[in-house]
Amino acid sequence: MKNIVVLVSGGGTNLQALIDAQKKGLIPNGNISCVISSNPEAYALVRAKENGIPTRIITPKSYATKETYTNALLEALFQEYADLIVLAGFMTILDEKIIHAYRNQIINIHPSLIPSFCGQGFYGLRVHEAVLQRGVKLTGATVHFVNEIADDGPIILQQPVAVHPDDTPETLQKRVMQEAEWKILPQAVRLFCDNRLEVRGKTVWIAE
Ligand code: GAR
Repeated sequence: MKNIVVLVSGGGTNLQALIDAQKKGLIPNGNISCVISSNPEAYALVRAKENGIPTRIITPKSYATKETYTNALLEALFQEYADLIVLAGFMTILDEKIIHAYRNQIINIHPSLIPSFCGQGFYGLRVHEAVLQRGVKLTGATVHFVNEIADDGPIILQQPVAVHPDDTPETLQKRVMQEAEWKILPQAVRLFCDNRLEVRGKTVWIAE
């Protein structure tokens, strides 16, 4: 059974999708053992507590330097015996030290079809604003392994979603979550916990 540690900063609807999948028995080889929030006000913490999942709050701004913050986060991950780290709406860029300690054990959900509308500055509603401004007809979500460059790691799963002409960033965000994020994140977590993912260069192979 793999220990899944979920890192959050906000509403936690993706965390909820993972909790729901676990309750339905859809992640048989994994257990959400801890939720770590960068924000003490995050509603994701309420969702974790309501479901009996231990929580920790590790806020970057309460540490003097990026290095001391990174060391605190890393220590927490070691203490939790994390096998898989899921960034579910986590709005802090992880230091290389953490990426190196957990190579191909950290996955992120991003609300677009990478490599479009991703990288530095593309997060949350900003992604959907940029999508609407560019006028693309298709967007979606991507689950990928995390490497040293923002949104650049090997792609595990992607799901396209139609953009409607009368969409607002908010309506589009909701559709992308419902039709893509909340489906592919639990699927990717299950595949990881079932040892079905193999990274070869930039490509993730999924075992039958
Ligand atoms: C989600 O749409 C997630 O894909 C996005 O933030 C939202 C968090 O919602 N993540 C990023 O933009 C990361 N670059 P949630 O807290 O309800 O899961």
